Amino acid sequence: MLHETYPWSMYRGLWSKLPPAPKGDYLKVKIVVITGANSGVGLEATKQLANASPEQLILAIRKIEQGEKFLKDLQKIYPNLKGKVISLDLSDIENIKKFVLNIKKESNRIDLLINNAGINPNFEDGPYITTKDGYERTFQVNVLSPFLTTILLLPLLKNSNDPKESKLLLQMLTRTLIKTIPEITTINVNPGLSATNLGREFKFNISFKTIYLISWFILNARNPKNAARNLTSAAAYKGGSQDYWTECVPFPSENIYLYSGKGFKAIEIFNKEMIEEVEKISPGSTAELI
Ligand SMILES: NC(=O)c1ccc[n+]([C@@H]2O[C@H](COP(=O)([O-])OP(=O)(O)OC[C@H]3O[C@@H](n4cnc5c(N)ncnc54)[C@H](OP(=O)(O)O)[C@@H]3O)[C@@H](O)[C@H]2O)c1
Repeated sequence: MLHETYPWSMYRGLWSKLPPAPKGDYLKVKIVVITGANSGVGLEATKQLANASPEQLILAIRKIEQGEKFLKDLQKIYPNLKGKVISLDLSDIENIKKFVLNIKKESNRIDLLINNAGINPNFEDGPYITTKDGYERTFQVNVLSPFLTTILLLPLLKNSNDPKESKLLLQMLTRTLIKTIPEITTINVNPGLSATNLGREFKFNISFKTIYLISWFILNARNPKNAARNLTSAAAYKGGSQDYWTECVPFPSENIYLYSGKGFKAIEIFNKEMIEEVEKISPGSTAELI
């Protein structure tokens, strides 16, 4: 297997030309849920998904009014689009449980779950912030909560005859899902560096290093419309689970550690810890992963 190492893999990726967003009604008869649909990559991906004739498009976001307006704008372009905005706050476990109940009221099936929402609060080392659930905030929003959301939605995904789950996140957890629940197509998507609102919490000190890093970012980051093609190309893909997806195709991860003996051991330990944590939150929900 070819392993291209960082940072070369990143530069090749950022400067390669992506294929256009997939065309056609590849989401016909599909119920699609996307988190973080109101900003950046998620917003652009949602526009592309709306163009693929989904049976229903569910926007899972915190800012309900913003989501309702966005949905109305989409419905002006696609008058037949059936959509719904449902509140989801990944920094609040009770809210995630409510979200899952609300989804269940809406439908008994999900065909495509795109776990897109995430944060990147620190430019350099920042303060250690915990949520009201007691977890470090970035860990909860980016790792634990998308995993928990997926686990709690498994029964609905399993009711689909072609279920798919996509996470931009931890390849370790993606591998567990791929291995233990093969009937669900799971794809770990990298959108690539993109000029979105992800840096909204950054605090900058004026320094040569900051100016250099900002200039580097402006030079290299893609626009979110292009980055979103990574999500929608994965959504349209028919070739089964992939533990890494970048530049709109399956690709061996540049993370060599994950393929090493130590990496396999770390995956095992991490999965065990995550399953224990999810079991504390929702007893019995991880039975299939053990
Ligand atoms: N941009 C990049 O260079 C890049 C590179 C690699 C991976 N990614 C990943 O791409 C995904 C999308 O990021 P983006 O670049 O599009 O950034 P963005 O413009 O900041 O969008 C992030 C989305 O996540 C939502 N979100 C944040 N915290 C949340 C919470 N607690 N509960 C529910 N939703 C929450 C935000 O909602 P609010 O508006 O309510 O905050 C927003 O919709 C993230 O997972 C990120 O890690 C981005």
